[in-house]
Amino acid sequence: MSLERLSDRVLIVTGAASGIGQATAIRLAQEGGKVLASDIDAEGLADTLKLANEAAGDTGGECITHVADVSTEADAANTVETAVEAWGRLDGIANIAGCCARVAPTSSTSTPGTGSWPSTSGAPSSCAGRPSPT
Ligand SMILES: NC(=O)c1ccc[n+]([C@@H]2O[C@H](COP(=O)([O-])OP(=O)(O)OC[C@H]3O[C@@H](n4cnc5c(N)ncnc54)[C@H](O)[C@@H]3O)[C@@H](O)[C@H]2O)c1
Repeated sequence: MSLERLSDRVLIVTGAASGIGQATAIRLAQEGGKVLASDIDAEGLADTLKLANEAAGDTGGECITHVADVSTEADAANTVETAVEAWGRLDGIANIAGCCARVAPTSSTSTPGTGSWPSTSGAPSSCAGRPSPT
């Protein structure tokens, strides 16, 4: 099976400094995608950059990184602009930024806003709400 099914596709992955987001960025690059890996954690993004570009090999896949807080409208807009500036288009977003360790258990969700939930609650709408440039 070809691993290059995402050739010439431009993809943003938020939350790409660790966990699911990092694994997603690596896999998309391995499948030939042009990947903008975004996160608030610059150190973790450096690991992702190395791992994703190693995984890309000669598939044509490529990874660049962008430090951004997806819960802010300005950072979300800048993330999209950075991908389009790099590759001229945008085909998809894996909006994975988030946190779970400090969120209250579901039995306590009648009082939302505990832990760090507010810092990421706007993430899906901030990035995914950007109009497609293509
Ligand atoms: N791991 C699981 O089993 C699981 C299951 C269901 C849902 N989830 C959800 O999937 C998401 C990712 O999970 P994970 O296990 O990979 O977590 P993780 O903590 O390993 O990764 C989350 C990443 O999001 C980044 N991040 C947090 N807030 C951000 C912000 N405002 N802007 C940009 N980046 C931000 C963090 O720096 C981190 O790199 C979380 O929202 C989690 O709740 C995870």
